[in-house]
Parts: sequence; structure tokens; C-alpha cells
Amino acid sequence: MSFTVAIDGPAAAGKGTISKGVAAHFGFAHLDTGLLYRAVGRRTLDGTDPIEAAHALTPDELERGDLRTAKIAQAASKVAVISEVRAALVDFQRSFARREGGAVLDGRDIGTVICPEAEVKLFVTASAEVRAERRYLELNAKGTDVTREQVLADVRERDARDAERSAAPMKPAADAVLLDTSDLSIEAALAHAIVLIENKRPATH
Ligand code: C5P
Repeated sequence: MSFTVAIDGPAAAGKGTISKGVAAHFGFAHLDTGLLYRAVGRRTLDGTDPIEAAHALTPDELERGDLRTAKIAQAASKVAVISEVRAALVDFQRSFARREGGAVLDGRDIGTVICPEAEVKLFVTASAEVRAERRYLELNAKGTDVTREQVLADVRERDARDAERSAAPMKPAADAVLLDTSDLSIEAALAHAIVLIENKRPATH
């Protein structure tokens, strides 16, 4: 059987942790679709054309450990406004979503564009200040030299670019359940997501 969970929302809202937790709980495969845009963005830093980079992308490039930097995040959100880049990445995401045994995909446009038929859609959000503080603590723990102000400015810049672009802008699907994690721990949000998914699963499970 295929069963798709679409988890969208802005950076550092808790999507990644919730997606991994859901995948582990139900035994679903997980795709962090931000990595696709990050891998394309990384290639453009070497001067490669973004559309060519998107067509040439291979799954093993997603495994590279160096994609989660602020510089690559900004490059990712710049290539993500290009509709030809987005189009080149659609088939891979859709076939992942429909694989046997269930799949969780997290990103910005999973419930709206990639998998409008997903059985469960969540839009995970939190205020920009709360998200920036979480990201700042994460970066700080890794020893990255940044200030809270820089991280907040970065979060706001990416939010604006992701929400205002014309190609697949970040927005909740009409039938998505909103999960605001501003005043909710990520563990509580995960527990909530698990209950929602449990209720949508076929009765045989
Ligand atoms: O989720 P993450 O922060 O890794 O995503 C990096 C960037 O990739 C986002 O800021 C966004 O511009 C883009 N993205 C997207 N659509 C997705 C996933 C990510 O446009 N489904």
C-alpha cells in the first residue's frame, strides 16, 4: 500500500524532527525535500547553471553532510524560485511519495503541488522569533559563529522569498492541519501528528 504524509512549513518550525519521528513511528520512508534544493544550490556556488544542476542531480548528492549551512540554505532558496528547477525535481519526489509501505515528505509545497492527494497534510509553523532562537541554539551548539540578529534576519529573508515567489509558494494546502509550535514542544507536536496520522490510516493497520 502507499500512504503519503506531507509536512510543509517554514525553516526551523520543527518539520524535520516531526517528519523523522513520524517515519520512525510508522516505519515510513522519509524524504527531506529541502535537500534537493540545497544540493542544486550548492552546485550553483561552483558556477553551474541551476536548471542544468537540477536535471543532473543524483540521489547520492543528498547524502552529503555539508548541505546544512546557512550559505547553502540561501543558495537553495534562490534556485527554488526558478520554475524549471522545481519542475526537474517533481518526478523524483512523486515516485518517492508513492513507494510501497508509506512515505513522509517535508518541504514547502508537498501538500499543495507535489502530493495534493496526500492522505495526511500538516503545515508546521512557529513565529519567526521562536524559529530563529531554535536555529541559533542549534548553530551555537555546533560552534558556528553567528548572532541571534543574523539568524533572525536570515530566517525572515528566506520566509519572504519562499512565500512570495510565484512558482509553488510556501503556503498551507486548504485541507492541511496547522500545527503551531511557538508554544508547543516539538515532542508534543510530534505526538499530535502521530494521532492525526493514526486516525487516517486504513482500518487494517
Ligand atoms: O527545508 P530547507 O530549509 O532545507 O529548505 C531550503 C530551501 O529550499 C527553502 O528555503 C526553500 O526555498 C527551498 N525548498 C522549496 N521547496 C521544498 C523544500 C525546500 O522551495 N519543498
